[in-house]
Amino acid sequence: MVTARAPATSANLGSGYDTFGVALDAPADEVTVQRADETTISVSGAGARYVPEDPAENTAGVVAAELDAPAHIEIDKGVRPASGMGSSAASAAGAALALNELYDRGYSREELVAVAAQGEAVVSGEAHADNVAPALLGGFTITRPDGTTTLEPELSLVVCLPDQPVSTREARAAVPESLSVADHVETVRNAATLTVGMCRSDPELVGRGLDDPIVTPARAELVTGYDAVRSAALDAGATGVTISGAGPSLLAVAPRAAQRSVASAMIDGFESAGVEARAFRTGVGDGATLDD
Ligand code: HSE
Repeated sequence: MVTARAPATSANLGSGYDTFGVALDAPADEVTVQRADETTISVSGAGARYVPEDPAENTAGVVAAELDAPAHIEIDKGVRPASGMGSSAASAAGAALALNELYDRGYSREELVAVAAQGEAVVSGEAHADNVAPALLGGFTITRPDGTTTLEPELSLVVCLPDQPVSTREARAAVPESLSVADHVETVRNAATLTVGMCRSDPELVGRGLDDPIVTPARAELVTGYDAVRSAALDAGATGVTISGAGPSLLAVAPRAAQRSVASAMIDGFESAGVEARAFRTGVGDGATLDD
């Protein structure tokens, strides 16, 4: 029996749609695997009733098939599904790491990113790796078709999760199909600023680099309270705010001294829009780990 702990993640970071991601200190999924003749899955924890236990429809089940590693897989969800915090990716990454160990497959973490990304296709219709890469590798990740670049910045963050579901498929359908050259220029500028900020662990630069004129404004329509929460977080000292992954969570870069007040301001912002929310005071964290 092998158990892996795989963290929540925040993908996109505004200007890096389908490219940037960070591992979060908390929350996390725990995935326990045991050899079996065929794969079965049981799910408990946060939002478990929304997670399919059919291996063909569960990201961990897809990973087991990709690795030819049939197992009984127990998933204890710490990351709520449809939250924008990489819930399906956490299960996929945890399963990939644990099954690789259980069956002694010998894949590197980098190789497991591509395997775990196949699980994402089940949930969103496309095999993007911007959540599974940080879930497996930790830190800040830039995913490319030919691999992943990682950095390990020290950065404190707040992720505020409202009680409203937004499906990844719906959020992907909202993304515009074309963009102007002016928007392209602004996005490149912001993505570069953010990357330099990550190199320097500089919350000002990372916060500014979160701005995105294309994907985030389109998706903000799906998040009740977006404008109120964003303004409240900035007023409380956040250096930048964006949608976490496909939403509905919002991510704020908050210098340590402002982290508590930013978290409260974001909860209040959602409440002013009639939506209950909870906030995670977190930071850029490590990738998935195996239990001893
Ligand atoms: N990059 C993905 C998106 C992350 O924003 O749709 C969620 O799967």
